[in-house]
Amino acid sequence: MKITIIGAGSWGTALAKLLADNRQEVLLYDRSPGTVEEINNQHSNLTKLANSYLPVTVKATTDLSEALSFSDILVLSVPTKVIRGVLAGIAKLLTSPKLFVNTSKGLEPETYKRVSEVTKEEIPSHLLKGFVALTGPSHAEEVIIGLPTSVCSVSENVEHAKLIQKIFSNTSYFRVYTLTDLAGAELGGALKNIYAIASGMLEGSGYGDNARAALIARALVEMRKLAIAMGAQEETLYGLTGLGDLVVTTSSHHSRNFQAGVKLAQGKNLEETINSIPMVVEGFRTCLAAYEAARELKVETPIIDAVYSVIYQHHGVKAVVKKLMMRSLKDEFVPFNIPKTK
Ligand SMILES: NC(=O)c1ccc[n+]([C@@H]2O[C@H](COP(=O)([O-])OP(=O)(O)OC[C@H]3O[C@@H](n4cnc5c(N)ncnc54)[C@H](O)[C@@H]3O)[C@@H](O)[C@H]2O)c1
Repeated sequence: MKITIIGAGSWGTALAKLLADNRQEVLLYDRSPGTVEEINNQHSNLTKLANSYLPVTVKATTDLSEALSFSDILVLSVPTKVIRGVLAGIAKLLTSPKLFVNTSKGLEPETYKRVSEVTKEEIPSHLLKGFVALTGPSHAEEVIIGLPTSVCSVSENVEHAKLIQKIFSNTSYFRVYTLTDLAGAELGGALKNIYAIASGMLEGSGYGDNARAALIARALVEMRKLAIAMGAQEETLYGLTGLGDLVVTTSSHHSRNFQAGVKLAQGKNLEETINSIPMVVEGFRTCLAAYEAARELKVETPIIDAVYSVIYQHHGVKAVVKKLMMRSLKDEFVPFNIPKTK
């Protein structure tokens, strides 16, 4: 099949290699002429991703119209902060319906909207054949060298989820499960980035494995409450797109969100941290969205509040951790009764 990937960053590049390994025809779109030139002429994208040597069948273009007419399947692999604008640009050029496959992980700060909701707003319904989220614990650095990875193809339309499962699955290194809880998968993939920043903060402060294990366990409890309040099904939070992605991103130096947390703990401010990491750190904006959503939905989120206070209120990490430790003592699992919004 022919597949278009919008965004030749780390993840778009790793997915292009995977699809080419699966004998699919791939066209990458990127706005950077240098990136497109490197892919077409050197068959690599080493400025974006180490070890990214691509099969010669992978082509790239800076021409969005060409990219859109190449295929009926559009894989979105750009930062969430530009997604609304990118989709609006696509909508202006579309002449036939497309299946959108989103791989970006984040929420819109002003609206708390998920990418599927933004897509429905920006792409007219007669041009939107369907929407699938391809999400789960997956570092581009590992996929590009063929290390075993498992993710989910998530859609309310089972046939669309199965189609994307088939196209992306590779028996050597990429296993894809199907799932229908789009809200749960998108929320898990977005919220875990905030906890990755928290985990990096612990690392940068010199705390140990005990603190990280406690963070992961309590983050799951918190993520479950907030995600259910925002429309997720509970079991999704315990799967690949929830717990799986939470574990990989809170435990790995590959995660930019983790790296950002380390830098914040070492005393860099938000601007310095963003400038020192060349690729997108989704957790900063998702933290704003989650902090506001939790307030609106009256869900207690001490970890998200702690990360927010370090990033946006300039509190020190050690003082924030001390405050968390001094919270009133309680049962591990306090029953909660959350009004569902959707
Ligand atoms: N890197 C990973 O391992 C990984 C894995 C799974 C999901 N993701 C998600 O994929 C998304 C992209 O991540 P990434 O790591 O590839 O980021 P990246 O920073 O490496 O690349 C982002 C790409 O988007 C392009 N882009 C930025 N602004 C644009 C605009 N206005 N118009 C068109 N293109 C634009 C850039 O040119 C770049 O090629 C993120 O939401 C991330 O959470 C990443």
